[in-house]
Amino acid sequence: MVEGRIIRINGPIIQAKGMASAGLYDVVEAGDLGLVGEIIRLNGDIATIQIYEDNTGMKVGERVVSHGEPLSVLLGPGLIGRIYDGIQRPLEELFERTGFGIAPGVKTHPLDMERKWPFKPLCKKGDKLEKGKPLGVVQETEYLQHPIYLPPNKQEGVLVEVSPEGTYTLSEPIARMEDGTELFLCHSWPVRNPRPYQERLGMEEPLLTGQRVIDVFFPISKGGTAAIPGGFGTGKTMTQHAVAKWCDADIIVYIGCGERGNEMTDVLREFPEIHDPRTGRSIMERTILIANTSNMPVAAREVSIYTGVTLAEYYRDMGYHVAIMADSTSRWAEALRELSGRLEEMPAEEGFPAYLPTRLAEFYERGGRVTTLEGKKGSITIIGAVSPPGGDFSEPVTQHTKRFIRCFWALDRDLANARHYPAISWIDSYSEYGEELKGFWEKVNADWATTRAEAMELLKREQRLAQIVKLIGPDALPDTSRLVLLCADMIKNGFLQQNAFDPVDMYSVPEKQVIILRLIMDFYNRALRIIRAGAPLLKLRSLSVIERIVRMKSQIPNEKLELVQEVKSLLDRELGDLEKEYKV
Ligand SMILES: Nc1ncnc2c1ncn2[C@@H]1O[C@H](COP(=O)(O)OP(=O)(O)OP(=O)(O)O)[C@@H](O)[C@H]1O
Ligand SMILES: [Mg+2]
Repeated sequence: MVEGRIIRINGPIIQAKGMASAGLYDVVEAGDLGLVGEIIRLNGDIATIQIYEDNTGMKVGERVVSHGEPLSVLLGPGLIGRIYDGIQRPLEELFERTGFGIAPGVKTHPLDMERKWPFKPLCKKGDKLEKGKPLGVVQETEYLQHPIYLPPNKQEGVLVEVSPEGTYTLSEPIARMEDGTELFLCHSWPVRNPRPYQERLGMEEPLLTGQRVIDVFFPISKGGTAAIPGGFGTGKTMTQHAVAKWCDADIIVYIGCGERGNEMTDVLREFPEIHDPRTGRSIMERTILIANTSNMPVAAREVSIYTGVTLAEYYRDMGYHVAIMADSTSRWAEALRELSGRLEEMPAEEGFPAYLPTRLAEFYERGGRVTTLEGKKGSITIIGAVSPPGGDFSEPVTQHTKRFIRCFWALDRDLANARHYPAISWIDSYSEYGEELKGFWEKVNADWATTRAEAMELLKREQRLAQIVKLIGPDALPDTSRLVLLCADMIKNGFLQQNAFDPVDMYSVPEKQVIILRLIMDFYNRALRIIRAGAPLLKLRSLSVIERIVRMKSQIPNEKLELVQEVKSLLDRELGDLEKEYKV
């Protein structure tokens, strides 16, 4: 134990003397209240410490104690469904004990230490416990098996004692190794250290989100990284909510980082009501929330990202697919900037510290699809919202983020103003996973790649035509060009727009996504031949099938895709008549 005295306080950054034997990144208890802090710089016997709780009222001369441990989280059964602050304190419990404002210095356990968990051993006395070999398993939720492994930072060895099947709390030992080490259902892990795995894998498995513009146009892989940049109110949070609700990850870690408190309240209110389409259970049963809203201490916001990733890695190590939503990484970068300013570091672009890109890289690097120590496949997909001031994507956080992500879902102010939601621009967005995911999608529908390419091409042509229309109006265009405008509108209204509040439209299964787009493209290709054979556009524009196609998204439920046949027949009938008339 090291004990020092506070000599300087600058907001959440303090300095303490008498800390010569403390280590960098050790956790301290600071001040009379014993607030949680972390040593971020050491100079002689003076330690610079970042305080993770509200330190209003802290005085010079109060003591600082370090036990020589790094900032860690507690990992074990019972994480799922919890709501934590940035340093893994359970918010429900804090609120219960101290009312809505969190009183600083309150000591809590991140996990319920009294609850008994059903443990089933898979090893016996005399077995060698190696890394990645499950010692046993706990049923954490109805759908979630939680294997217990040797903590990756402990030595492998022979088991001299293993508890029989039964129920145990997190503080009861369940096994003992020959060197005397006791093993528990939980262990702690330093948040800034990535957890080990065997090897990184390719990105050929999609993270299906049920959002058509994402899955078909700008798909993301399990283990991939994406950014959602967008100006104020363009739909970043809504997009992240939609992905968190509907994506096919096993576990969601939702990090509300520096956003307004009421946005987190929305999550807390909505999520328990939503049911996972695969299990029928509340999605809170697969979600961990980390809330560090704008009114909470800024240093804890900085660390909340690492806390979230570490929890995600823990479940990845069991062979699960985890998706992290971070809303917003810009607020996180602002926390870095504020702390860096107080540390009197040399600022780089727009006052952000020079290490901003390194920190962003470290965060996104912790995503990926891997072979776990046990040999299973697990993944962490990271989706970060970026809120550039004034919606200007040339600012440093957006620009640096772009270097480390492979999916860019750019939200467009004009689309949001026109109430085209999700306002993901089909011009500015991109995904680099398309090639790797081709294999998956072609099994869903052999036409995926061609349909997607044709539709994107059509939208590009529409964009060029729109410039001309602005100058001379649509009437001067030939009918073939006006058909492009008509079909681009069908894509926008019938495919790209997706209403997060419509019970049928809010989520589309992969088959449905491709079917809708394919029908629109079939309509376009056949209509083009009819127009070239001499039919006026008017004849096509008045067909009732157009309306039917555009409404498919909300009229054909995911589990009744056979209804598509009726729309197809109508298309055949109406276009067939014109084809006969114009001898196509
Ligand atoms: N997919 C959608 N379906 C329906 N409405 C949407 C959708 N996306 C966004 N909206 C509308 O846009 C509003 C703003 O969205 P949201 O709060 O997600 O924006 P934001 O970018 O997170 O804003 P902020 O910059 O304030 O964090 C929502 O309240 C909702 O009315
Ligand atoms: Mg938001």
